[in-house]
Amino acid sequence: MRGSLEGRVCIVTGPTSGIGRETARGLARLGARVVFACRNEIKGAAVRGEIAADTGNPNLEVAHIDLADPVSVRAFAADFQATHPRLDVLINNAGVLAFRRRLAPNGVESHFSVNVLGPFLLTNLLIPVLEASAPSRVINVGSATHFSGHVDFDNLQGEREYRFIRAYSNSKLEILLLTYELARRLDGQGVTVNCVHPGAIRTGLYNGLPVAARFVKFFLRSPKTGAAPIVRLASAPELQHVSGRYFDRLRETRSSPESYDVEVAARLWSACEALAGPAN
Ligand SMILES: NC(=O)c1ccc[n+]([C@@H]2O[C@H](COP(=O)([O-])OP(=O)(O)OC[C@H]3O[C@@H](n4cnc5c(N)ncnc54)[C@H](OP(=O)(O)O)[C@@H]3O)[C@@H](O)[C@H]2O)c1
Repeated sequence: MRGSLEGRVCIVTGPTSGIGRETARGLARLGARVVFACRNEIKGAAVRGEIAADTGNPNLEVAHIDLADPVSVRAFAADFQATHPRLDVLINNAGVLAFRRRLAPNGVESHFSVNVLGPFLLTNLLIPVLEASAPSRVINVGSATHFSGHVDFDNLQGEREYRFIRAYSNSKLEILLLTYELARRLDGQGVTVNCVHPGAIRTGLYNGLPVAARFVKFFLRSPKTGAAPIVRLASAPELQHVSGRYFDRLRETRSSPESYDVEVAARLWSACEALAGPAN
C-alpha cells in the first residue's frame, strides 16, 4: 500500500482527544505500531481500545507522559528506548491554550512547558533511537498563529506580561524555530524534522477559554481534517527527504520572517537546554 506504515513504530503525544486522536487513528489504519503517549492513561486506554476496534490494528500501546514534567518526559524516553528497538516517527502533537497564566509543578509557565520545552526535551532524548532507525521523521504540530508570535527572551514565560493568545502564538513560533534548528543540526543524519499547521480545528483546545469564545469552535473543521496533513507528513514516501519545512495543512509554504532567524533559534535552543537539562 502507498504510504503504508507496516512494521514502523510511531509515537503520538496527546492522542486522547482532538487532532492527536485522529492522527493516532490514521497511523493505526496504515498499519503502524503506535505508542499513545498520554498524560491520562485511563483516557488513553479507552481511546486505544476504540481505535483498535475501529482499525483492526492490535499493535497500539499506551504509555504515560506529562510534558510539563521533565522527570516524566525522561522516564517515558528511557522506558521507550528500553522496550523498543526502533522509532520511525515522533509526532509532537500535545498542546495547551491557557486563558490564565499557569505554572507547572517545576515552576515553568504552561505554554512554554507543554508546547515548547516538553517536546524539545522528548525529541532530544529520542534522537539516538531516531538516528538508529533512519530514515525517520519528527513532526511538530505548530500553528499559523506563530505569524503573530515573537520571542521575547525577557518574557519567555509571560513573567512580565501575560496575554493568553500572545503566549500561545509565541510558543508556536518557538517550536517552529526549534524545528528549523534541529533540522540544521540533524542534516545528513537521515532524520527529517518538519512543522505543520493543522488548520483551525474543532477540539478541546478551546475548552479553557471563556464560554463566549468557546462557541467559535463549532465553526471549525473536524479533527480528522486536522490530522490528515500530519498523517501525510508521517507516511508519504515523497516526503522522506524533506526536512526543515513548514506546512500549512497539506501545502509547504513560508513561515514568518522571525522563524528563519538563526541567531534567535540558537539562543532559544540554549535557553531550552538550560531549563530542561542535558539530553545525554
Ligand atoms: N485545534 C486547533 O484549531 C489547532 C490549530 C492549530 C494548532 N493546533 C495544535 O494541535 C495540537 C493538538 O491540539 P488539539 O486541538 O487536538 O487540542 P486538544 O483536543 O485539547 O488535545 C490536546 C492534547 O494534548 C494533551 N496534553 C495537554 N497537556 C499535556 C501534558 N502536560 N502532557 C501530555 N499531554 C498533554 C491532552 O491530554 P489530556 O486529554 O490529558 O488533556 C490532549 O490529548 C496542539 O499542539 C495545538 O496547539 C490546534
